[in-house]
Amino acid sequence: MCGIVGYLGNKEKKEILLDGLQELEYRGYDSAGIAVIEGEKLNSFKAVGKLENLREKTKNFHTEHFGVSIGHTRWATHGKPTELNAHPHIGNYSYVVHNGIIENYQILKKALQAEGITFLSQTDTETIVHLFEKYHKELHDPFNAFKQTVQRLEGAYATLLITEADPETIYFAKNGSPMLIGFDGDEIYFASSDTPIIGKAKEVYYLEDGEYGFAKAGTVKLYNASGEKSFTKQALTKDKVLAQKEGYRFFMEKEIYEQSRIMGETIMGRVLDESIDFEELDKEFFKDIHALKICACGTSYHAALTASYLFERIAKIPCHVEIASEFRYKEPLLNKDTLFITISQSGETADTLEALKMAKRAGLRSLTVCNVDNSSIVRESDRAILTRAGIEKGVASTKAFATQTMVLWMLSLYVGQIKGMISKEVLQKEIAAMLHTPKALIVNDTLHEKIRRLSKRYLHGHGFFFIGRDLFYPLALEGALKLKEISYLHAEGYPAGEMKHGPIALADSGLFTVALMPKTLHYEKIKSNVEELSARDATILAISPEPFELADDFIQTAYDSHPMLEFFEMMIVTQLLALEISVRLGNDVDMPRNLAKSVTVE
Ligand code: AGP
Repeated sequence: MCGIVGYLGNKEKKEILLDGLQELEYRGYDSAGIAVIEGEKLNSFKAVGKLENLREKTKNFHTEHFGVSIGHTRWATHGKPTELNAHPHIGNYSYVVHNGIIENYQILKKALQAEGITFLSQTDTETIVHLFEKYHKELHDPFNAFKQTVQRLEGAYATLLITEADPETIYFAKNGSPMLIGFDGDEIYFASSDTPIIGKAKEVYYLEDGEYGFAKAGTVKLYNASGEKSFTKQALTKDKVLAQKEGYRFFMEKEIYEQSRIMGETIMGRVLDESIDFEELDKEFFKDIHALKICACGTSYHAALTASYLFERIAKIPCHVEIASEFRYKEPLLNKDTLFITISQSGETADTLEALKMAKRAGLRSLTVCNVDNSSIVRESDRAILTRAGIEKGVASTKAFATQTMVLWMLSLYVGQIKGMISKEVLQKEIAAMLHTPKALIVNDTLHEKIRRLSKRYLHGHGFFFIGRDLFYPLALEGALKLKEISYLHAEGYPAGEMKHGPIALADSGLFTVALMPKTLHYEKIKSNVEELSARDATILAISPEPFELADDFIQTAYDSHPMLEFFEMMIVTQLLALEISVRLGNDVDMPRNLAKSVTVE
């Protein structure tokens, strides 16, 4: 989703901005732009599409002296991905970049238009720059003009503004969207996440909601609703976790293959010989907790749904799962004996973050399962368990889902232990399966080749149904999501037993059914459901350790001893199937159309 980079100092600003934006590229965007003020010189460039287009446009532009600069990658929310709608947005003498959504922009825009101000774009962002110039005209003071502007904004924003009226200053504000400030002596950096400034800045300050201020002459002045605020910088990690394709065709393919290795890291020090341990948690944290509520979006929601079966079955604790964007507006009843769990790969998903804030306001204890340390959700939560998946570049999440599911499985045992709900035998059996999981995740070349070959038969049809029961229902949802994200084919995940209550009406040879048929969970039940579809001529791709004679295509899995081992093995099959179909259709596997890696707007 949108990315921001800013820089104040003597170095070549164009390169700092473009390199920084490149680091954020995997998050998804459809246009980009930069603006620089150096001395009296003000320059800005924008381009639709990939950053190479912006690089091309700026190839003869260089900066040599002290100056201020801002850059942005835009993922369209208000208005099409055009050059006019790309950031930075210009007023008469100022530029602004912004992530998030200004919810009251229409009211503000109308009022500004009524005063004779002309808007060039369809964006909500442009309101910020015009509002600033309006107040600047009235107050003749850039800082107070910016402060007044920020006070008028409703919604989520992280924004940077530069202006000829104060050409050596960068103004900033943050509310609901992430933003940090990096420091290296007199040089000051801004970014919407730390990757663009790692290796450049030595220290960092993560802005809190409601903070704003300005950077000038190597210092930063910070304010919030109570006035000027002091802040403490922290050391910024020096190691950029560089993600490379390492010989794989796509990041997604590499990430599927590395699931086995990273799963070893996810369980390291946590799955012990006779118990599960999380150094991040203690018994006291679960005192008087009698229920769990999990909120998440997309793939993380599917991990949450999987976990709800595990928590109730293993830890015998009630567990409710909700899509974060739904939870926020349903006026939920929240009890303090409920632990509020969020799951997020990025730790920046706006809906999940806002749900967490709601739960905190209601006085609930919070825990997050997240892949990115220091992300907004991690910082907002009482406790955090990191999934240790490493940077995930493919927009279609794979290894993040696997590691989230593993952490939640471990957590269900951990809670079961604390509550005294789990026998020694069950604990031993689960631990043995957990330790075996990295093996179950090894991608076998023969299997991959088989999936590659049969993918050619699944490029048309009028839709896919991924079906499963129990734990395999969330996996069916996830399999369908993976396919639709990167193939653009219609796919739905469904509980197999529910097909007869409506969707079976769609069954004919053009309906592709991917049936998850584990041996260890309700095999006979799902078999009957698949037979019902086969009897109506649906095309069946069955995935099971048990041969199934009615399947049009059959992928035989190896594990039949534990549901979670079957789960992870089948997960690999659905991921590879989506990948190979997408490749055959010629799609951009790693950066599918319309999607963003980090969804920082609601
Ligand atoms: C997964 O393939 C998706 N790209 C998407 O559904 C994602 O899981 C969702 O946006 C939630 O993101 P998060 O885990 O970073 O919070």
